[in-house]
Amino acid sequence: MNEPRSNPLALIAELTHRCPLHCVYCSNPLELEARTTELSTEEWSRVFQEAAALGVLQADFTGGEPLTRPDILDLIRAARAARLYVNLITSGLPLDESRLEALVQAGLDHFQLSFQGAREEVANEISGTRAHAQKLRVLEWLKRHRIAVTLNFVMHRRNIEQLPEMLSLAESSSASRVEFANVQYYGWAFANRDALLPTREQLTHSIDFLKKAQERLAGKIKVEYIVPDYYARFPKPCMGGWARKLMLITPSGEALPCHAAKVIPGLAFENVKNRHLSEIWEVSDAFERFRGESWMQEPCKTCDRRALDFGGCRCQAFLLAADATATDPVCSLAPQRPKVDAILLTINSRVAQASASALTTTISGDATEPRRTDSSAGASVAAPTESKPAWRYRPNPS
Ligand code: SF4
Ligand code: FES
Repeated sequence: MNEPRSNPLALIAELTHRCPLHCVYCSNPLELEARTTELSTEEWSRVFQEAAALGVLQADFTGGEPLTRPDILDLIRAARAARLYVNLITSGLPLDESRLEALVQAGLDHFQLSFQGAREEVANEISGTRAHAQKLRVLEWLKRHRIAVTLNFVMHRRNIEQLPEMLSLAESSSASRVEFANVQYYGWAFANRDALLPTREQLTHSIDFLKKAQERLAGKIKVEYIVPDYYARFPKPCMGGWARKLMLITPSGEALPCHAAKVIPGLAFENVKNRHLSEIWEVSDAFERFRGESWMQEPCKTCDRRALDFGGCRCQAFLLAADATATDPVCSLAPQRPKVDAILLTINSRVAQASASALTTTISGDATEPRRTDSSAGASVAAPTESKPAWRYRPNPS
């Protein structure tokens, strides 16, 4: 049964795909949109007005890197003028303290700073650039401004053992919320998945550690943990359900129900240059396609959890099962779940073998040492013993 249409609550505004970083897990599509196709300040301003009229409460400015837009201050003012709460999701560069002051003066409500880790070496490796030291500077500047701050640490096999250091960084900052978000496997992360997926042991340790941190920091910092859904029993309710709460606009103005929707063949996306946002939300093909439950197959069709997770993620169903109407293969009830189990088995076995062979080499007196096990702050999370992967870095669009 289909429920009545609700309004979107948030507009994810991908202001640009340009970015000084080249993160190996970037959720942008493999085909990036060029600068010349980006919406103008005036077009974005109209979109914010239409979004507010549709009932949207919040604009999430993201990219790429939204700070690469020279008109970022005007865009913040325009979204505020439309009475939207403005959240900037940023890597913290290009930025200096006077520009941060200008962002706050323009009305920015919330600053979400992303980190690639707690240590410079891996953070720079993952982002393909030297960005970590700048992020630490931004953290210091933020303490001097009245603005809500969230830190976002993107977690994966190469940095999960740094969890205690990441938490210390958050505790010493002005953040009221910290997100430890395991990579989700779309876009560039899907291309680099085998080098990013944590092991089951790493995941178990990290969950234990963060449960204790949540208890200790209750009332001081909100600590959130997003686990990689390949290890979950049931899928996440991706985007809060297809076209139920969120709407994403790409740099060139295409309206999508989620950031990965373009991987699904046969969906037609409308552009805000040609159609009012409310019409796109109400009737466009791409938004209608997986609303409600009529598209569902078994086991979702009759499952008690279908109103909780909406059958999981449509894009993941396509990426893993080549069928966007299939039950998300990460679900333990999905006919395609063995594919996910096989991926996990391969990764866990490979890492265990690499660690065993490094240990043998060390015991036999070879100069190669296994990487350390970080037990600081009570988290015994083993660092895998692996050589640097052949990363597929995200390039910059023209
Ligand atoms: Fe969710 Fe479908 Fe799995 Fe049920 S069968 S838990 S509705 S994904
Ligand atoms: Fe598209 Fe989950 S990312 S539905």
